[in-house]
Amino acid sequence: MSEGREKKMPPPWIFAPDASWSGMDSPKNGGAVNRIGRLRVVLAPMTRCRALNGVPNEALVEYYRQRSTAGGFLITEGTMISPTSAGFPHVPGIFTNEQIEAWKKVVDAVHKQGAIIFCQLWHVGRASHQVYQPGGGAPISSTSKPISKKWRILMPDATYSRYPEPRPLATHEIADVVEDYRQAAINALEAGFDGIEIHGAHGYLLDQFMKDGINDRTDEYGGSLANRTKFLLQVVQSVAAAIGPDRVGVRISPAIDHLDAMDSDPRTLGLAVIERLNKLQFEMGSRLSYLHVTQPRYTAYGQTEAGTHGSEEEVAQLMKIWRNSYVGTFICSGGYTRELGLEAVAKEDADLVAYGRLFISNPDLAFRLKLNAPLNRYVRASFYTHDPVVGYTDYPSLEQGSRM
Ligand SMILES: Cc1cc2nc3c(=O)[nH]c(=O)nc-3n(C[C@H](O)[C@H](O)[C@H](O)COP(=O)(O)O)c2cc1C
Repeated sequence: MSEGREKKMPPPWIFAPDASWSGMDSPKNGGAVNRIGRLRVVLAPMTRCRALNGVPNEALVEYYRQRSTAGGFLITEGTMISPTSAGFPHVPGIFTNEQIEAWKKVVDAVHKQGAIIFCQLWHVGRASHQVYQPGGGAPISSTSKPISKKWRILMPDATYSRYPEPRPLATHEIADVVEDYRQAAINALEAGFDGIEIHGAHGYLLDQFMKDGINDRTDEYGGSLANRTKFLLQVVQSVAAAIGPDRVGVRISPAIDHLDAMDSDPRTLGLAVIERLNKLQFEMGSRLSYLHVTQPRYTAYGQTEAGTHGSEEEVAQLMKIWRNSYVGTFICSGGYTRELGLEAVAKEDADLVAYGRLFISNPDLAFRLKLNAPLNRYVRASFYTHDPVVGYTDYPSLEQGSRM
């Protein structure tokens, strides 16, 4: 976990809108498969619960290898930054030497295919349970309000349970969590990752501070937008200072109410975050790698297909406002089909499009989208099971024949 790692070359930033994707034109490796016209296909971060006891294994090596193409960009599943950060069974971590060593094999396999991979840094906050906490303690959050009965947590024995009452972090404890993110980012680079994505979305810890439907604090992390966005900004700043802004992506979902993460004014919240990220970039004299925003049409991690977040038009308008306000590369994700992805980049609503569920069932998704080939259907029941193969690495590529 040393900081004295070898200085890496600057990232070959594929994200610049007109960057050339050299070395991708061999039909053998799929050619420029991640680029369909101007559409660049990204693997969205997805928790898959296959890292038994928190350590990436051969199954993960194979899963990520299958989804790598020359010039492609992959974001890992949410990865624990500390022992208190888990809320799903068998989620990988990046805070022990064993985990760092194990990730190296995944990263190497991806790099061998010529792809780039970021590690998503995750703390679930109150979206946890005593069974996942060291010493059986209460999960931490911005609040003592539990997630409502509407939501259930997946337990290690595959049953579902109620979310327990969390413990609000004391003001002075927040710096320790910021430090966990910083160290995890350093560890990720040590494991060979090209960068990290800070998970500030979907009702997890950082979102629990940002949304006024959850955060009921009276200290300097509650109340005003400046206070509610402070934790995220401190994490971004600290991580960017440690590993370089151009290796840091940030994910937010201001308009998504997954796990009760509701805000009374998502538009303004999104703009408040963006304004501060822009300012930070200016102060640092360098851009972050990207901003990744989840489209509200996606809710509930595949538990439902569509949300009730205003009309398509209203939602598109929101995404456009955020995209146009952010200075830098913009990734969108959430319910994108081939057509919607092509449309998003054609209208300049995004620079890259991240695909989730379609990538679960189509390891060669980018290639299939390029050819407009039929897609395998995903099997929701195996999203979070632990079999190293079934529902994980056994979806066939086009070459192997479609399983429709
Ligand atoms: C099984 C599953 C696990 C997910 N896990 C994560 C995660 O760990 N981190 C994250 O930011 N998003 C996660 N998501 C959300 C995806 O990144 C993506 O935004 C979502 O699936 C919408 O894209 P899609 O419509 O292309 O599937 C998950 C989604 C699914 C289906």
